[in-house]
Parts: sequence; C-alpha cells; structure tokens
Amino acid sequence: MIKVAPSILSADFANLQRDVQMVEQACADSLHIDVMDGQFVPNLSFGMSTVAALRPLTSLTLDCHLMIVDPERFVEQFAQAGADLIGVHVESTQHIYHALQLIKQAGAKAEVVVNPGTPLNMIEGLLPLVDQVLIMTVNPGFGGQHFLDAMVTKIAALDALKQKNGYDFDIEVDGGVNDVTVKKCYDAGATVAVAGSYIYDSDDPAQRIEDLKVATN
Ligand code: DX5
Ligand code: ZN
Repeated sequence: MIKVAPSILSADFANLQRDVQMVEQACADSLHIDVMDGQFVPNLSFGMSTVAALRPLTSLTLDCHLMIVDPERFVEQFAQAGADLIGVHVESTQHIYHALQLIKQAGAKAEVVVNPGTPLNMIEGLLPLVDQVLIMTVNPGFGGQHFLDAMVTKIAALDALKQKNGYDFDIEVDGGVNDVTVKKCYDAGATVAVAGSYIYDSDDPAQRIEDLKVATN
C-alpha cells in the first residue's frame, strides 16, 4: 500500500489548520508543503514561517518540497522551522551535493527532486546520500495538472537502480496523482504519493486518501 502525502497547495489557505488536521485524522502519512519562489517556478506559495506555524498543530511528518533557486541558502531555516524532510531540485543549484549535506547536518531527512525533463543519470551519484527521491510527474509550479505517463518508466528505472544497489530510499511521485495514476506509480516502484487537487478539491478528502490506499492494496 502506498503512503499518501496530501499537498496543502490545494488546501484552503484561510483554513490551513482545519485542512491539515482533517488529513491527519484521515490517516495521511505525511504532509507535503510546496515552497515556490517565483523564479525556479512561475508561482509563489509558502515560506518557512508557514512551516513554523503548522509545526505545533500536527504530528505529521512535514515534507517540504523546495522549488527555489539555490535552496542551500534556506535549508537550515526550514529545518529549524520544523521540516522533517527537505527536498531540493537537482536543477535548482550548482551545488546539489552540498545542499543535501546541509539538510542532513541540520537534522532533517534529505530528498533530491527531478523535473520531468531531467534524466536519472543526473542524480545517480547522489543516491547513496538521500532518504527519498521525488520524481515529478508534472512540470512543477501548479496543482491540478495532468499526470505525465512517460514518467512511469522513469520510476521503474529508479526502482531498478534502488534494488540493484540495495538502497533503501523512498520513491515519491508528485503531480496528477489520482486513483488511476497512483496504481501505475505504485506498480513501477513508488512508495509515497503526493496528491493535492485529488484530495482537497473533493467533498470528501478522507475518502480520497482511502481511495489512493485501496487502489494500491
Ligand atoms: C506542483 C507541486 C505539487 C502539487 C500537486 O509543483 O509540487 O505538489 O501540489 O498537485 P496535484 O496533486 O493537484 O497535481
Ligand atoms: Zn510538490
């Protein structure tokens, strides 16, 4: 069964506490927080003060997906704000290895993220270092986009590398996840699924979390 990480990008920003506690009660496995700077992606969202505000309200793992240029500038502040896991895009910095080292030094779990157009060989040398790899299944920046089917072979190729080398990182997918696409990801080796609009745009978010789990059971 896949682990489910609701993305609060699709939550009601005026009722974040309610929307976070709702998914926690519905057995979400972690909470996905999309951080955007208007440069790495053409959108703006949350910063570390949002993470700090949410930290005392939930015991869910806070999974912070940084879509910002040179994320190494901010990883320590996100860790101090309460992020448990911090994801940095391989495309967002000249110093990805250093960025991942800084995340670990700050006491958080380290994740490397790859855009749809980035081949896996860009991150192969980083795999021994990371706790999680995030394969983007849409172009980052916005919720509610269509799942890119071509990413399924990339998930399977990453899982093959993981098995061959005995790595134990989680494989997360993000973008366009619903009860149909989640099964394709899970069958290819994904262990964690982010879902924003599928969960929060529903009248019954708890049922949607259940549906993602049932689809991969
Ligand atoms: C997109 C974000 C996603 C987004 C997913 O850049 O990284 O986490 O919230 O939204 P859905 O699930 O609606 O595609
Ligand atoms: Zn995300």
